[in-house]
Amino acid sequence: MKVCMVGTGYVGLVSGAGFAETGATVVCADIDATKIAKLRAGEMPIFEPGLDELVARNVAEGRLAFSDDVPTSIANAQVIFIGVGTPMRPDGGADLSAVDAVALAVAQHATRECVLVCKSTVPVGTNVRVKRLVREAPHAVHVVSNPEFLKEGDAVNDFLRPDRIVVGVDPEDQFARDVMARLYHPLCLDRDRIVWMDPASAELTKYVANTMLAMRISFMNEIAALCEKVGADVHQVRLGVGTDARIGPKFLYAGPGYGGSCFPKDVNALVHTGREHGLELDLAVATELVNQRQKGVLFRKLRHHFEGDVRGRRVALWGIAFKPRTDDIRDSAALTLIDALLADGAHVVAHDPEGLDNARARYGDRVELATDPYAAAKDAEALVLVTEWGQYRNPDFERLRTTMRRPLLLDGRNIWSTYQLGQMGFTYEGIGVRA
Ligand code: UGA
Repeated sequence: MKVCMVGTGYVGLVSGAGFAETGATVVCADIDATKIAKLRAGEMPIFEPGLDELVARNVAEGRLAFSDDVPTSIANAQVIFIGVGTPMRPDGGADLSAVDAVALAVAQHATRECVLVCKSTVPVGTNVRVKRLVREAPHAVHVVSNPEFLKEGDAVNDFLRPDRIVVGVDPEDQFARDVMARLYHPLCLDRDRIVWMDPASAELTKYVANTMLAMRISFMNEIAALCEKVGADVHQVRLGVGTDARIGPKFLYAGPGYGGSCFPKDVNALVHTGREHGLELDLAVATELVNQRQKGVLFRKLRHHFEGDVRGRRVALWGIAFKPRTDDIRDSAALTLIDALLADGAHVVAHDPEGLDNARARYGDRVELATDPYAAAKDAEALVLVTEWGQYRNPDFERLRTTMRRPLLLDGRNIWSTYQLGQMGFTYEGIGVRA
């Protein structure tokens, strides 16, 4: 099967390399010639565990190639995936200009009957919009919606071992159905994972999944605040509710608010779609509202410890990325905290295993960036854990206590809540947990 993946961001690059791994012949195409040149030289544009190996192996074995010639890549393919970005517009809706551009390129350059698959996260109605754009093409173009559910940091595994594969295809379109079934067959050897549905339902499923996950997090963040008021412990409440099989244990961790390029954008986009159709999706609205408030929680706690004045204080952050195992800092709670600290005149020194380059690009020298976590904490009056990287889980607390100016630990992910740090001489505070 000859596949063309247009767009080499998270979704495009991981899925393109993933399809190559299953035996398809894949060209990942992008209009960004610099990015393609780097990919050809084996340089990954993102940090994602396992991706370089996956790409290198499939390139070496001749199944994966990169091209900045999008028209030719489309002309040679039987299946073309749209894996381009759909950034949020100021009104909360999705900017579909890159999606439109691919659809028009397919209409113009396809050389045979082909399947055009939308993998980018797109609002309901995009499938119809794309169909309209390819209607006049000289060859039949079958339009399919196939949202991607991979998580940054675990993307390769998510692609190759998905819980399910959602494929939205018109019921009468047997051609598209056969192509999609063949393409995904290697990922369904132990059991059929494809959930077939109509395109609008597939498009909506993506937003509903992300919003529901975000909703669980926001609810637990609200409950964490309540725990602090009533003397309960959100860690124990999580275990208590998460062991109900109907609820399940995942995505119930209180923290500094969800970030990344997906949850905030997708919750807003779902709300926007509702409003376009005269519906106010109150739960989705509240999910985002609670998250906005939660992103200020670490700063509020810090300020409280400094009697409302952080000016001139040296504050250390561990973790800038929005989650571990990624260098992505987009919409990270760390940014909200850093911005608030800088605005109030604090001195911020931060460490992150992978996110320092992105932090430097955003802050320049307004934030001191440390390549060693202990160097960041040295002489600090507070250490704030923002991202739960593995290397922060069991640090040398003795070293921290003796080198920090003031032994104040603010644990945004509750990873140290069981260490009884109070007995070691620390002032410790988590999110909804007892010290
Ligand atoms: C999310 C979804 O999990 C993927 O299924 C989806 O494909 C992806 O968005 C997307 O739409 O492309 P991702 O944003 O990479 O994936 O990361 P998550 O692991 O979902 O984490 C999102 C945020 O929620 C992070 O800031 C994380 O720290 C936070 N989180 C997660 C919590 O605060 N508590 C939890 O219990 C879980």
